[in-house]
Amino acid sequence: MMFQSTAAAGLLFTLGASAQSVISSGQGFGTYYYDIDQVDACGTTFEYQNQGGVMCSSETLLSLNEMDTNYVVAMNNTQLRADPSQYCGKKVVVTVNGQKSDLQLFIGDGCQRCGTGSSTSDTWNSEGAPGLDFSYSVLDQLSGGSACNDGHVSISWEILDETIYNFDGSSSGFTSSSGSSSSDTSSSQSATPTTMQTSASAAQSTASSTACSDNAWQCNGDVLEQCIGSTWTPRATCAAGSSCKGGSNPYCS
Ligand SMILES: *[C@@H]1O[C@H](CO)[C@@H](O)[C@H](O)[C@H]1NC(C)=O
Repeated sequence: MMFQSTAAAGLLFTLGASAQSVISSGQGFGTYYYDIDQVDACGTTFEYQNQGGVMCSSETLLSLNEMDTNYVVAMNNTQLRADPSQYCGKKVVVTVNGQKSDLQLFIGDGCQRCGTGSSTSDTWNSEGAPGLDFSYSVLDQLSGGSACNDGHVSISWEILDETIYNFDGSSSGFTSSSGSSSSDTSSSQSATPTTMQTSASAAQSTASSTACSDNAWQCNGDVLEQCIGSTWTPRATCAAGSSCKGGSNPYCS
């Protein structure tokens, strides 16, 4: 008895001392949708995807390129939109095959597929399945090099109550205590984002004219388009020899 209670107290102490509280967790599938370092990979190009503004910075319209880090993670967009301040910039710990990531991953964007269908589904469905969306480089690292071949990887995750990236205008970037760095984009920032309203000015130059509902996806020829500010906006172009497939959850193949 004595031993048991001592062991339990020790365990509680260890957990309390080292772990941040978990504000959300789940299991499902990891996919990739952008990459800052490897712009062309897996038979596709992330050129347009990288230009897309992230949901956590929709007022200042910080694009993935401007954030200049592959550690941005996209989560269930319904959940994110309902309470952005709870999730944006929070650290994400991802487990693949029992291995926990120690990367400086943080919530920065919304993922349509991750918010469609049942949150408890364990069957992959490109139209909707629980999970997270990563940079190609990070998913490849998490999966031990199988991101291209597999496309989606079984993961579980925890979002911790620990802000490692600030999205507030003038000082956007990794918090100093996170020990990681990203390029300083502060000079291009202005107002502090306070809502998730997506501005029409998010539209990149060559958007097509059809009105759409925000964050929906479609194929337009060989281009993957996302609806931003009710305008179809190019986010990625399929490399030569592959074309856009998958309708509302497009991919290059
Ligand atoms: C996404 O989040 C919403 C709101 O929290 C939840 O109702 C829904 O089940 C989630 N969907 C998935 C696929 O996780």
